[in-house]
Amino acid sequence: MKDLTPDRSTLDPIEIASRDEITALQVERLKWSLRHAYDNVPFYKQSFDAAGVHPDDLTSLDDLARFPFTVKTDLRDNYPFKMFAVPRNKLARLHASSGTTGQPTVVGYTQNDLDVWATVVARSLRAAGLRPGDMLHNAYGYGLFTGGLGIHLGADRLGLATYPVSGGMTPRQVRLITDFEPKGITVTPSYALSILDEFAVQGRDPRKTSLEVGIFGAEPWTNAMRQEIEQAFDMHAVDIYGLSEIMGPGVSMECVETKDGLHIWEDHFYPEIVNPDTGQPVAEGEQGELVFTSLSKEAFPIIRYRTRDLTRLLPGTARSMRRMEKVTGRSDDMIILRGVNIFPTQIEEALMAIAGLAPHFQIELNRPDRMDQMRVICECVDASVGQADRDTAGRALSAKIKQTVGISVRVDVADVGGVPRSEGKAVRIVDNRPKG
Ligand code: DLL
Repeated sequence: MKDLTPDRSTLDPIEIASRDEITALQVERLKWSLRHAYDNVPFYKQSFDAAGVHPDDLTSLDDLARFPFTVKTDLRDNYPFKMFAVPRNKLARLHASSGTTGQPTVVGYTQNDLDVWATVVARSLRAAGLRPGDMLHNAYGYGLFTGGLGIHLGADRLGLATYPVSGGMTPRQVRLITDFEPKGITVTPSYALSILDEFAVQGRDPRKTSLEVGIFGAEPWTNAMRQEIEQAFDMHAVDIYGLSEIMGPGVSMECVETKDGLHIWEDHFYPEIVNPDTGQPVAEGEQGELVFTSLSKEAFPIIRYRTRDLTRLLPGTARSMRRMEKVTGRSDDMIILRGVNIFPTQIEEALMAIAGLAPHFQIELNRPDRMDQMRVICECVDASVGQADRDTAGRALSAKIKQTVGISVRVDVADVGGVPRSEGKAVRIVDNRPKG
């Protein structure tokens, strides 16, 4: 793999500014953001008043902990536009969550917000090793989802030649990668695996493409998966994180030269880690739930938003801004099985350690006889693997999960294609347990 480290002279100066400079900017912007939310969004006025705090109470970053949290249901309760802090004629863009599990969440952007978004995504793509003039295959979905259009915005800003292929039509993905010879690909890690399968179907060698870097996010993935993808495509694989409530992709990004967690673009998004049960800030470097406050957003300011994503904060390395460790999972994707907490990423890690198994998996939860049971459905690497070898691999995975996670699960090794493929975010858990 080529060295893609960007030239430091091309970075935004704030990326490598001193911590003092970053803190000073954050305090100044935080004061503005709290005031902006309080003055323009009735929800924030009510929630601050109810907690007995006022924007003037913030004089240092530590004071932020006195302000109330915002949670997903607050956004749903204020559907569609009651969380917006600007009149409708100042909006330049709207995005929304899919709303498949209930009321969609709507987010809005002013022209300035889009400008900030373009800046942080351009920074992220540069951190991945892309430069003006490079070509990008953008396979994140275009639509209400922020992935496709968010990446596109930043790619335009950086000066890339982007083609908006979006997700789906997998044979065409392979064809365009082969014919257009892009340098980068932006895609969910699970869909990258579907594309990889298609290379095999078409009898093409994925290691022989022009791709030098893949920028993967929108769902959790492990370092073991990174190795798998890097090896399969002979390219770098870096992590990009974000959520629509805060902006979209580009809230934080891993640098290609270090691959040691994701630098949070702290000049626009202020991170905290809290204990998910008590809401109290955790000690520095401890794991907990990530909470974000926007520092510059006009249309949709967001104060202390509980992301439900679990990670820890680490000091800066390749950039001065702090890093977040790869997300372990969302607190709402945590499976509690007979008292043990399990994340799909732990199953992914175990699966990657077993020879003969493909990287696709799904977890099924059942409750026969009032006892919760977990079944892991995975696949053998190719059709030539016989039943005896499949059974051996299945037993090995089951033993590995027992050893690393501490639970007994049933493993079924299906035929190639037996696990449903993703074209965007993978569905990792199918919960068949009776509700309520
Ligand atoms: O997934 C934005 C995005 C698009 C990020 C493309 C990166 C690339 P939402 O649909 O609002 O936005 O989903 C946000 O996805 O709270 C996490 O649970 C999860 N997520 C996003 N990026 C990562 C990542 C986009 N790199 C939710 N690692 C977040 C783990 C991620 N989880």
